[in-house]
Amino acid sequence: MTKDTWIGDVRAGNYDGEEVELKGWIHRSRGSNKIRFVVLRDSTGTVQCVVKRDSVGDAIFDAMKDALIESSVIICGLVQPTDREHGHEVQVSSATVVGPVNPERPFPITESAMAEADGGETEFLLDNRHLYLRTGRMTTMLKLRSTVFGAIHQYFRDRDFIEYQAPNFVAGAVEGGSTLFEVPYFGRKAYLTQSWQLYAEAAMPALERLYTMAPSFRAEKSRTRRHLTEFWHAEMEIAWASNADVMEHGEGVVRHIAKSLLEERETELESLGRDLDLIARYADNPYPRMRYDEAVETLQGMGVGIEWGQDLDYSKEKVLTEDFDVPHFLTHYPRIAKPFYHRPDPDDPKYVLCHDLLAPEGYGEIIGGGERTWSEDKILERIDEEGTPHEPYEFYIDVRRYGGVPHGGFGLGVDRVCAWLGGADHIRETIPFPRDSRRVTP
Ligand code: 4AD
Ligand code: MG
Repeated sequence: MTKDTWIGDVRAGNYDGEEVELKGWIHRSRGSNKIRFVVLRDSTGTVQCVVKRDSVGDAIFDAMKDALIESSVIICGLVQPTDREHGHEVQVSSATVVGPVNPERPFPITESAMAEADGGETEFLLDNRHLYLRTGRMTTMLKLRSTVFGAIHQYFRDRDFIEYQAPNFVAGAVEGGSTLFEVPYFGRKAYLTQSWQLYAEAAMPALERLYTMAPSFRAEKSRTRRHLTEFWHAEMEIAWASNADVMEHGEGVVRHIAKSLLEERETELESLGRDLDLIARYADNPYPRMRYDEAVETLQGMGVGIEWGQDLDYSKEKVLTEDFDVPHFLTHYPRIAKPFYHRPDPDDPKYVLCHDLLAPEGYGEIIGGGERTWSEDKILERIDEEGTPHEPYEFYIDVRRYGGVPHGGFGLGVDRVCAWLGGADHIRETIPFPRDSRRVTP
C-alpha cells in the first residue's frame, strides 16, 4: 500500500482535473446530512474534500459523516481548482475509513480542552506530546529541524570532515561536575556524556577533521527556555587549527544553516512568522568578534551587574544580544570561567583562547568552542588547577604524549539553533519529546 499522491502537490495545482487517491487524516469535518466538507491532512498540507450523499451512496457518506477528527482515511476523487480558502478541492467519488477513532475517546487536543486543562495549556500539550506532534506548528518545526540537521551534515561533509561517534557512557566530566548525570554501571559509577569532545580529540591525530551530531546530556536542575537535559549536539574537532580557524567554521556552518532554511523552508519560516530578510542577513553577513572584556564593559555600561571573571548567564546574554543584528562571537573569556581543556592565551594566560557564539534577538549562546590545551605539562597543570583526579582523563592526557598538535573545535546546540531561527519562545518547541528535570514522559 504505497502512497503516490501528496496533498502538497494537489495544492500546487499538479493534479487539476485529474482523479486522485489521497491518504491522510481527517483534520476537520463539517456539513449536513447531504454534503460534508472534510479537510484532509497529510505530512505535506491540507485540502478540502467534498463528499455528497448523491455521489458516493449512503454507506460511504455515513461512514465519512461518522468519522471523527484524526481518523485515517483513503479518499478518491476529482481535483478541481476553486477560489475558496484551500485553492483546490476534491470532489469525492469514494472513501474508506482505515483507522477509525472511537467516539468514546475522541482526539483529546481541542481548544476547549486546552483552555480547561488543570495544569494549564503548556503542561496539557506536553502530556499529549505524542498527539501534539501532528498539529500544524509542531509539524512545521520538525520540518525546519530536519533541514537544520541536513545542512550541518552537508556543511561538514562538503569540507571532507569525517563523521565520528564517541561513547555516551563515560567516566568523567567534560563541562564540570554540577551537570553530570550519574548512572549505575555494574557496581561502578558511570556518567552520561556532556560532550563528544574528549573522545574526538583522541581521534584527531587519526582523522584530523571530524564532526558528529548526537545527543549530549546535562543534569540541568533549573528549567529555562534554553536548557534541555538531553539535547542534540553538533560538534567538530580539527587538527592544526587556532581559535580563529575554529570560529571560521562556526560562522560557516551557522550561515549555511540559515541559507539552507531560506532555500528549503521559506513557507515554513513564513508560517512561523519569521522575517525572511532577517534570516537572509544571518546567511549573508559576517559575524563580528568581540572580546569578553568588551562585553563586560558594555553590560556594565547598560547598568547590568556583572563582575569580571563571571561566565555570562542567560539573563546577561539576553540583554547583550537583544540589539545584535547578526550573531556575535565573544572570545578570550577568563581562564577561571571555563573548563580545563581550554588553552590559556600565551600572550596573557589570565584568558583562554575560546569563543562563544551568541545569537541575536535575545537568544544568546548557540556555540561554545576554542583551542585546546595540547601539551602534556599544560594539560596536567590545568587538570590540577581544577582539582580533578587524573584517572578518568588518562586517555586524554595520553593524546598529548604522542605527537600533540595545536587543535580545536566547537559544540553547537542544534535545538537552540532551531529555536532561534524558528523564532520559538522555548527550546522545547523544537524537539519532538523534550526532556527536562521534571519530565521523561511521554
Ligand atoms: O558550551 P558547551 O558546554 O561546550 C561544550 O560542551 C564543548 N565541549 C563543545 C566542544 O567544544 N566540542 O556546549 C556547547 C553548546 C552550547 O553553546 C549550547 O548551544 C548547547 O551546546 N548546550 C545546550 N543546549 C540545550 N540544552 C542544554 N542543557 C545545553 N547545554 C549546552
Ligand atoms: Mg558554553
